[in-house]
Amino acid sequence: MAKLIIVSNRLPVKLQEKEGKMTYKPSEGGLATGLGSIYKKDDNLWIGWPGMVVENPEKQQQIAVDLHDENMHPVFLTETEIREFYEGFSNETLWPTFHYFSQYAVYDQQLWETYVAVNQKYCDVILEQAEPEDTIWIHDYQLLLLASMLRERLPDATIGFFLHIPFPSYEVFRLLPWRKEILDGMVGADLVGFHTYDDMRHFLSSVNRILGHGSMHGWINMGSRSLLVDSFPMGIDYDKYAEIADSDEVKKREKVYRNNLSDQKIVLSIDRLDYSKGIPQRLRAFELFLEQYPEFHEKVTLVMLVVPSRDAVEKYKELKEEVDELVGRINGRYSRITWNPIQYFYRSYPIETLSAFYRMADVALVTPMRDGMNLVCKEYVASKHNDPGVLILSEMAGASKELSEAILINPNDINQVVASMHKALTMPEEEQKACMSRMQESLKRYNIHHWVGIYMDRLNYVKIKQMSMATS
Ligand code: F6P
Repeated sequence: MAKLIIVSNRLPVKLQEKEGKMTYKPSEGGLATGLGSIYKKDDNLWIGWPGMVVENPEKQQQIAVDLHDENMHPVFLTETEIREFYEGFSNETLWPTFHYFSQYAVYDQQLWETYVAVNQKYCDVILEQAEPEDTIWIHDYQLLLLASMLRERLPDATIGFFLHIPFPSYEVFRLLPWRKEILDGMVGADLVGFHTYDDMRHFLSSVNRILGHGSMHGWINMGSRSLLVDSFPMGIDYDKYAEIADSDEVKKREKVYRNNLSDQKIVLSIDRLDYSKGIPQRLRAFELFLEQYPEFHEKVTLVMLVVPSRDAVEKYKELKEEVDELVGRINGRYSRITWNPIQYFYRSYPIETLSAFYRMADVALVTPMRDGMNLVCKEYVASKHNDPGVLILSEMAGASKELSEAILINPNDINQVVASMHKALTMPEEEQKACMSRMQESLKRYNIHHWVGIYMDRLNYVKIKQMSMATS
């Protein structure tokens, strides 16, 4: 029976070794939840890196056996590969370029060669597991070359690719020395998916100008075969977030946090530590808000959770210092014995704690400089039930295309961000609830299961259409 193979850089589980014993911690990520019920079915499989460097072949064997029971298969990466493929080309070349931070991008031939070699490594592992009639669904920017590598070996396979980060405009994408090779890699798929229509448009424009292939209604005709490019805005597991937020445990936690913050209005900020998230810009806007609206002193607290990420990459280390410095400066300037304007937490938290934060937040401040989608804003809305709350959302996040009832801002316009905070903190409750419920309706319907469903349906449709094109 044909099976579905999902491939992503990381497996939906994190491997850790404690006192010589392996532990497997399931991921809470959106993709893992969305695909959870699918990859565990029948002989389906998820292939990826288990999140830890393991060099001992016996240990590798044992891990493969353990993961096999959970329908997962590992790709082991060496320390050099982590440095040059993951931290290097993926996160120091592609990530900054695709997020319009090309001034941060490193162009290094050695990093590129390791990126090619690791994509080939994933390809070899998949080939050991795949049958010609299987469907292979590849995820994200770490594996841009994989579709074509697989296509060469499995010409008739059904191959999907989805990019979870933005695809930049042609003028930015063309800066990459390996732009042609990257596009050649992506067009090996039958269906290339993006979060937004703009990402899709940028990709089609680069394919046209760099590879010379035009397109019609999203179809790219490559001569020997055609592929479809389309947008699929990713949703969240709405019911899961709504249910957790409604649980007794979360309500209890919210009460404890609230008691500690007395009558404060809470503005919430949650992100991975990443320059694309606009954390320093957000802090400066909050500082200006305190300067312009002294009547809010001792009445508002910014609760800021920053989740450690990619801390071996130089730009992330620099950003950490900048954030620490800014928080110290603002708190130093405005704190009173009974009030700290910013409560800053640099660590990761379980979903129940996040949910309690979402519940208690009067305002969520989600202001990335650039974001493929952004799920935090969707999780906030899903956690609100019938409660009031205001979402301030960057126009540069893919989610802004769906959540037009949020207060949409340009994160570079500090005065607009300040004005939007004031508007949010003084908005009548009825208006808050009306906007919230419209966003909730849409997120409930276009949830993660819907996203997986329409992507898979479209992929099947592409295969049928390709067959009819070949015979006509
Ligand atoms: O947004 C892209 C993404 O790869 C997500 O899929 C992932 O959750 C996040 O970035 C963090 O990535 P990592 O910790 O694997 O570098």
